[in-house]
Amino acid sequence: MSVFSKDFLWGGAVAANQCEGAWKEGGKGPSCADMCTGGSHTNSKRITGTIEEGTFYPSHEAIDFYHRYKEDIALFAEMGFKTFRFSIAWTRIFPTGMEGEPNEAGLAFYDDVISECLKCHIEPLVTISHYEMPFALTEKCNGWASRECIDLFVKYAKVLFNRYKGKVKYWLTFNEINAGTLPFGGYLSLGILNEGTTEFKNQVDDPMLRFQGLHHQFVASALAVQAGHQIDPECKIGCMIAYMTIYPYTCNPDDILLAQKQSNLQNNFCGDVQVRGEYPYFAKRYFEENNIRIHMEDGDLEILKKGCVDYYTFSYYMTNCTGTNPDQARTFGNLTGGLKNPYLEASDWGWQIDPKGLRYALNEIYGRYQIPLMIVENGLGAYDKIEEDGTIQDDYRIDYLRGHIAQMGEAIKDGVDLIGYTPWGCIDLVSASTGEMAKRYGFIYVDKYDDGTGDLSRKKKKSFVWYKKIIESDGDCLE
Ligand code: BG6
Repeated sequence: MSVFSKDFLWGGAVAANQCEGAWKEGGKGPSCADMCTGGSHTNSKRITGTIEEGTFYPSHEAIDFYHRYKEDIALFAEMGFKTFRFSIAWTRIFPTGMEGEPNEAGLAFYDDVISECLKCHIEPLVTISHYEMPFALTEKCNGWASRECIDLFVKYAKVLFNRYKGKVKYWLTFNEINAGTLPFGGYLSLGILNEGTTEFKNQVDDPMLRFQGLHHQFVASALAVQAGHQIDPECKIGCMIAYMTIYPYTCNPDDILLAQKQSNLQNNFCGDVQVRGEYPYFAKRYFEENNIRIHMEDGDLEILKKGCVDYYTFSYYMTNCTGTNPDQARTFGNLTGGLKNPYLEASDWGWQIDPKGLRYALNEIYGRYQIPLMIVENGLGAYDKIEEDGTIQDDYRIDYLRGHIAQMGEAIKDGVDLIGYTPWGCIDLVSASTGEMAKRYGFIYVDKYDDGTGDLSRKKKKSFVWYKKIIESDGDCLE
């Protein structure tokens, strides 16, 4: 008998800005993502601020999910998805974020996506904000650096809760909210564009502004949780954290302490606020030592306390090491890099593959919070090749997923309450960090390339059939 229960939520995940395209259709306004050019592993994508004639912007067409969602959802249904995680583009609902009334065409589009899911017996799992805040808010007030965004976000979230009440049971407020603890997250997650920033990977960073922005997001998220529960008491609202397991490189106590400190800041800081409703004990010293002074208004801390999430979700791709020896070789990872681990292999983008690190993470998180967990992103970004016979033999992806699912099973046996799994980019889409199409995660191949060419047709990879069997057997069939 499988350790995964019959109602375990198997599925897949995408985000609007990385798959929808149609960036100007249906009244949509430009988002922060729409201002980013293509890039690569070695060449950072640029943030242009205005649209440059003749430059390629991958989000503008992306994989055209906007026009092809029926075909795509049918493929997800064929794999047996129980849930589909997607995000709503804020700029389809409020094109600048500041309008008084929502844009009906945007809402109608998501009506259709949601009914298509429900028709296929797929539970929609909706992220309210996934790296796609209205660019107009970046221009007006430097994004989340401004408190103004709180009310605008809550207004937007309320529109969604009212419109999709009874249809959407699972919500997430901000994707990878802890991206804001790292310089990379300044523009990506907070819409902060400081003077002098042109390259996505090399942003002019102002930590105080980032943590101020994060505070605004915490308050906005907590208010949205309260509003959501009031509008639809049946719905569940979660947080979403980019979980970055950090190992000490050696057993030197200095390395151990460093790993603990980094993990507290990167992994626990945001989770503690959103699950426990208060800033963690270690925040004070971190702020003092880094000259970070946050402005809070009366009542903010109470709002946080009243807006705790119902479940905890996270992305998990890789692990890194940390240590005090500056000569150790470094490697990359999701949102941030770290030291190379001699026991692990890495993807072509230098992200170290570590299924056991997922079991470790699940135990760490569950031990800390004791609320239901969901892994809402996991997967291998890889170069896929179409063989002469037209097939895509992505055994490397199957190996990666198999290893991680096996460790999820172990964590369930350990006693962790894991309720769902939605691998990232269940259909190939634009990479968030590099803007590439070449970094593919999908079970479904999309004919779209980094120069913008491709007929956008869809093709099943070998992993498509494999994942279908996994779902059919409730995770029991891991061969
Ligand atoms: C997460 C994001 O950071 O990782 C996704 O939530 C992103 O938006 C995913 O696509 C994978 O990262 P990348 O850079 O390979 O696309």
